[in-house]
Amino acid sequence: MKALIYTLLAATLTAAALPPFQRPIMDKNLGPAIPLPNKSPTASKPADSDTIVLSDVLGRDREINIFAGFTRDFAPMSERFDDTSLNTTILAPINSAIMALPRKPWEDPEDYENLGTEAYEGDKGAERARQNLQRFVEAHVVPASPWKEGDKLNTLAGDEIWWETKDGVKMIQPGNIAVSSVASRVYNGEVWILKGVRNYK
Ligand SMILES: *[C@@H]1O[C@H](CO)[C@@H](O)[C@H](O)[C@H]1NC(C)=O
Repeated sequence: MKALIYTLLAATLTAAALPPFQRPIMDKNLGPAIPLPNKSPTASKPADSDTIVLSDVLGRDREINIFAGFTRDFAPMSERFDDTSLNTTILAPINSAIMALPRKPWEDPEDYENLGTEAYEGDKGAERARQNLQRFVEAHVVPASPWKEGDKLNTLAGDEIWWETKDGVKMIQPGNIAVSSVASRVYNGEVWILKGVRNYK
């Protein structure tokens, strides 16, 4: 009985972490619900099998598998993580930080203000959620690696970001978000694990 309750609880938590446009897919196991649009215009260089790249390691770390799951819905991002000619620093918020948010990462208080409780219902709502989630993910992707302390860059979402060391801890700025560890260092970049999330409204 106890085991069943834990299983149900885990299933509920997992479903709760999924945006509206992902939920039906997972339930019915029918593959991607949304067609993956616009391939990146630049000629990408997919990694050959000997080279370990970000796309190989991102899904490996269970601590960040919610964020890793979010990135998979956005083709240009997945391609970037697979591309040996583009370096990237991925700032992956730890699962517990995403679960602790008062709202899901794709929920925008402004959408609720403008559209009410049905902001994410139907096809339009799913598309809105998808765009919000894309912005959330992009705010955690820095298009450079190595990324030196104090180097001000723009995330894929277009906002300025840098990091500095405070008491021996890497802090992402603005926002003072601590980096708990560097999870992976591979050919085309690094995965850092964040204790919090960025640009959350
Ligand atoms: C990309 O990362 C590698 C380390 O894996 C580094 O040697 C190379 O200089 C980086 N390229 C750029 C453009 O930063």
